[in-house]
Amino acid sequence: MKLFVDTGDIEEVRQAAEWGILDGVTTNPTLIAKTGHGFKETVLKICDLVPNGAISAEVVATDYDTMLKEALEIHSWHPNIVVKVPLIEPGVHLVKTLSDKNIKTNVTLVFTVSQALLAAKAGATFISNFVGRVDDISDEGMVAVSKTVQMVENYGYDSEVLVASVRHPLHVVQAVEAGAHICTLPFKIMSMLFKHPLTDAGLKRFLSDWNDAGLSIFPKEA
Ligand code: E4P
Repeated sequence: MKLFVDTGDIEEVRQAAEWGILDGVTTNPTLIAKTGHGFKETVLKICDLVPNGAISAEVVATDYDTMLKEALEIHSWHPNIVVKVPLIEPGVHLVKTLSDKNIKTNVTLVFTVSQALLAAKAGATFISNFVGRVDDISDEGMVAVSKTVQMVENYGYDSEVLVASVRHPLHVVQAVEAGAHICTLPFKIMSMLFKHPLTDAGLKRFLSDWNDAGLSIFPKEA
């Protein structure tokens, strides 16, 4: 499963990229607004930090003609940019247009399998299925993810299912179990994936035993 970081914060992208496990970055208008910096400037810095990654940048218009202009502008900034498009009627139309031009798209704000079907049929590269926002209203967001993965596999659609709106590490485990292709995580959640108290305790014991025995990997200097 590919791991993306869900942020507009350059320092978070830099750190996640240094870990060597980062496959891409997702942004959205809210995350970009939080940075206090310009959209293009932020997205291009992210592209530099993750040179082989897919970097999602979202259109903000809601009518087809303006969305198309924005999409072509965003696409022109860097070859690794994936144009993020909300699942509304002109959005699906736009995804079909962009797909016909071989421009990669990430269809966002997808909550149901029926919405995902429209995105897949339009040729979406990624289908961003939101889970946390559904859990927040006392439903099970991951159910639609499993069914969407099944749909994509049954019908052989090219789209990859991207689990978005992740709130905790268990969502990552559930994304793996559902066979999702990608999971995008806030930096804080990505950092939590490293943590286990038995890892910390185990390492402490290994190092203390090693040091007590006076061992060294390198030859000791005479
Ligand atoms: C996905 O691409 C979105 O940017 C993101 O995952 C939304 O998460 P939220 O529900 O925590 O805002």
